[in-house]
Amino acid sequence: MKNVLAIVLCMLLLVVSVGAMAEKVGVSMPTKDLQRWNQDGENMQKQLEAAGYTVDLQYASNDVQTQLSQVENMISEGADVLVIAAIEGSSLGEALTMAKDEGIPVIAYDRLLMESDAVSYYATFDNYMVGTVQGTYIKNTLDLDNAAGPFNLEITAGDPGDNNAGYFYQGAIDVLKPYIDSGKLVVKSGQIAFDDVATPTWATETAQNRAENILSSFYADGSNVDVWLCSNDSTALGVENALAANYTGTYPIITGQDCDIANTKNMIAGKQSMSVFKDTRTLAAQVVKMVGQILKGETVDVNDTETYNNNVIVVPSYLCEPVFADVNNYKELLIDSGYYTEDQLK
Ligand code: BGC
Repeated sequence: MKNVLAIVLCMLLLVVSVGAMAEKVGVSMPTKDLQRWNQDGENMQKQLEAAGYTVDLQYASNDVQTQLSQVENMISEGADVLVIAAIEGSSLGEALTMAKDEGIPVIAYDRLLMESDAVSYYATFDNYMVGTVQGTYIKNTLDLDNAAGPFNLEITAGDPGDNNAGYFYQGAIDVLKPYIDSGKLVVKSGQIAFDDVATPTWATETAQNRAENILSSFYADGSNVDVWLCSNDSTALGVENALAANYTGTYPIITGQDCDIANTKNMIAGKQSMSVFKDTRTLAAQVVKMVGQILKGETVDVNDTETYNNNVIVVPSYLCEPVFADVNNYKELLIDSGYYTEDQLK
């Protein structure tokens, strides 16, 4: 009798574990070209698998059509939850409608999915705060309230197709605008509006070309660029490349975001002043937790139900906190925490 009970128990356990294993999470990432998405994808896969889920992870080479068909495939192959970091927030409508029709919950990962009521949750870092941290760094480093100035500022922002880009830009501009208005910060190129400073697909080369044009058109007379506000590291790298090739003045303050390896190296070498660290392990852990809560029918962790309106609904969101990084604290943030090895930054 005992043996029979044991066998039944084993079979039950098997059924339960096979059931859990059968839960499948589709993870759609924008591109392998930028460092952070490789880390995001890797962290998501590792943590989801550790939690017992099957993972279908796809990268879309920054091509909207590819991402659309990858997500549609995930749906037809039986994903139970979708986690999507969109290339272009408003281009996945068809796939999202398909997910909604099939009752598949969708989590927007880092970037909000726009123009759709099929988005269940959003997990990201506080995007406006990223910009505030960058703007405040510039304000404090130049001591804008006390220094006489004027200082020359140039601005490089992100991809207009990425809802985050506007938040980064606005967070920084809200800090700097009073000084631009009073003339303490002078934008010699005159390029201030988001549309004039944006960088499609966040491409380093595009940021570099624009920076080269600005340097040759407005700074060839020997005047200094005192500060270059860059929304993230891939665009900061473009500006740094342009400066290395075309600029002999005093090196500017440069901001960034992500603590990419190339930029952290530049930070150590004094070629980038700061970055904003968004620990992709933290975001992945939060999303894995949300996936679990959704699949178990539990209340899903959110901490913001007001900010992220995707033009159809306000999407309940969990905002992680971004952290200021510079040459003084990078060791503690990036090496001691195991994010990078010391060798990776050599
Ligand atoms: C992310 C940034 C990243 C940028 C380019 C944004 O959506 O929030 O961390 O630098 O995309 O990949």
